[in-house]
This record gives sequence, C-alpha cells and structure tokens, in this order.
Amino acid sequence: MVKTQDKLLNKPFFLKEINEQPKALANTLAQYLAPNFQLKMAKPPLDDQTIKKINKAYITACGTSYHAALTARYIIEELAQLPTVVEPASECGRHQLLVDESTLAVAVSQSGRSRDTLAAMELAKRRGAATLALVNEAPSPLSRLASGYLMTLAGKVDTLSSTKAFTSQTLVLGLMGLRLAQSRGLMREKWRDEIEKIGRLPELVRHALSYEDQVVAISERLMGFEHVFILASGPLLPMAFEGALKLKEVGKIHAEGYITGEFGHGPLAMVGPRTPVIMISFADDGDRSLDLAAEFKDRGAPLFLISEDGLNLDHNLARHSELFLPVPQAPSRMRAVVTIIHLQLMAYHLGRLKGLDVDNTGGLIRSAMANHVVAPEKTNGLVEPRLTSA
Ligand code: BG6
Repeated sequence: MVKTQDKLLNKPFFLKEINEQPKALANTLAQYLAPNFQLKMAKPPLDDQTIKKINKAYITACGTSYHAALTARYIIEELAQLPTVVEPASECGRHQLLVDESTLAVAVSQSGRSRDTLAAMELAKRRGAATLALVNEAPSPLSRLASGYLMTLAGKVDTLSSTKAFTSQTLVLGLMGLRLAQSRGLMREKWRDEIEKIGRLPELVRHALSYEDQVVAISERLMGFEHVFILASGPLLPMAFEGALKLKEVGKIHAEGYITGEFGHGPLAMVGPRTPVIMISFADDGDRSLDLAAEFKDRGAPLFLISEDGLNLDHNLARHSELFLPVPQAPSRMRAVVTIIHLQLMAYHLGRLKGLDVDNTGGLIRSAMANHVVAPEKTNGLVEPRLTSA
C-alpha cells in the first residue's frame, strides 16, 4: 500500500494538512493528557481559584476558528453546566457585551494575529474577564494579550484554509470543557470514559480519511451545480457551517450551512433538480431530516447523505439519498470532528476537479491580520487596540 506521505508528494499544502490531522491531534492530546487520565491544563485562568469565580464562558474568533469555537458551547454547557456565548469577533462590542470579572473569555486563533479577535480580547480584558487564548502560534499578539494561553500543536500551517488547526482547536476546546467540569466537581463518575473517548480522536480521524474514494464520487457529482445546502443539527451544526465555508473558499461552489429543523421554514423553496443537498444526519438524531429527505425526493433534488457507517440502507434516509457517505462509528461527541474530514476532502477534490489553486484561494483580506498589539485607545465606546497592519 502506498504510504500517505509518498501519495502526497508534490500535492498542495491544503491536502497535505488534511492528512496531517491524526498526527496533529495525537501531538495535541499528548500535550494535555497525563498518565492516569489526568489533564495538564490547570494554569491560570484555568486554575481552580479562577474557575470558582466564573459563571459564564464567552468565546470569540474569526472564520474557521469561529466554527471551532461554536463546537465548544455544546461540551461546556453539557459537561461543565456553564452558560456559554459564542460570537464572531467582528461582532464583539456591536451590542451590549455582557462580559465581566465572572466571565471566562476565550479567544481562538490559529495565527494569534487576527485583528478582530485581538480587539475582542482587549475589550473583554478591559471588562475584567479572565482571558484565555487558544493559539497555534506563540509568542503571538494574542498569546501576549491574554492572561494565559493554550497551544494547539497542529504544526506549521502553510495554507490559508485552516484544517488541522481547526480539528486541534475543537480538541483543545473539548478538553477545556472537561477541565471546567472537573474543577466544578462535575462528572466524576464519567471522567475516565470521557477521557478515553476523546483519546480515540486521532484514530477516528485516520479512519475517516480512508473514505476518500466515496468523497470523490460526491465531489464529481457537485461539479454540475453552482449551489449546495449542507444541513445539520445540534453538535454537528458547526460542521455544516465549516464545510460550507471550505466548499465556498476552496471548491468555489456557493454552499450554505443550515439548521435542519429550520430548513423547512423558507429555504426549502430553493430546492429542486438544480439545487442538491448534503444532509448530515445520524439515525438517532430525531431531527426533521426524514421528512425533508422525502420532500427532496419529491422535488427531484439530489440528496447526498452523511451518516454513520453501517446505517441500514433500507433506512428511509438512505433510500431517499442518491449517494451515501459513511462516517466511521464514533462516540456521539466525536461525530462532528470525524464528519468534517469528509467535507474538507470534498472541498479539496472539487477545487482539484475545477483546476483551481487550492492553496491560494483569495479568501483572506490582508488587513485582517496584525503584527502586534500596541497600547489600546478609547474609540467611540469600543476599545480597539491600535494594531499595526500586516
Ligand atoms: C481566515 C482563514 O482568513 O482567517 C481561516 O481563511 C481562519 O482559515 C481565519 O480561520 C481566522 O484566522 P486565525 O488565525 O485567527 O484562526
């Protein structure tokens, strides 16, 4: 069998980095998992004393990092029972920001240099929040700005469209949720089981990469279309948004991530033979997917189903689908990260089939990045540090 690295010789960085994810996840896990299932993640502001004062989490980021931030809400609210607000950094301060000394403010950024993320972190800091940066590069303006930071060990990133940093961010945010739960005296009895589940992530992602041929089949079908919807619900929803971003940015198809339960309230009007739908739905989801699948069939809309491997093909979801893309069997909490691998590869193959430069997508506005933070200055109620341009 051809080794992965040989197969990737002279391939674009975007594809290489998708395939580096098992290693990036394993390195990131090794950084935080101690023997006997303990977490090495108790430095300020994740020390017990600070966490005791916290009654809310506020998480902010840009682009793909924002989609990683969205995944954190599910695990923090479920395991740590902390109300969690997640918003794009560019929106921070454009409404009444309820952040204070009882808030843990987390900023997620691969580069540690996104201007909006820096400005949001600066505003949260001035409101007295406990500030934590989650970065892949340190030192960086964001790691210096926050009172503490966690590293994703995704390794050097050579392409604009974040993949390995994204899955490492979701992993560290999941571990942070576990740390908050542990410090708040919750889930003692489930601790070992949760750590064992999250420890399986590198192997599950490696397994997901092996379905690439089925992904190519859907990418080839998408070549004939200009629009596609990606539907999901619950913890899988951030993957619909992230998958749609990657398909737009790298595959240059107009893709829109949408809440399954909301789709029948208007957007359904767009669905027909020229508008395919990718639906991420697992048999136990109990969302609107079954009703919608029948509707899509009636309207002649191609439906591509992403669901668990081993789904009975007589299941109505499968029967209404033109193509079925299986996701390796995984604990429900891991499904989201395993699912995004398919959508990352789909974006790559669509870009490849179109002969596009998948490493230079034109998706980043240069002014979005800063070199370093200088003293903040007051401007119209928003505090925005004067940042040098990139
Ligand atoms: C965008 C990139 O321009 O910036 C995304 O295309 C990235 O992949 C986003 O997530 C934010 O960058 P960072 O470095 O703050 O994560």
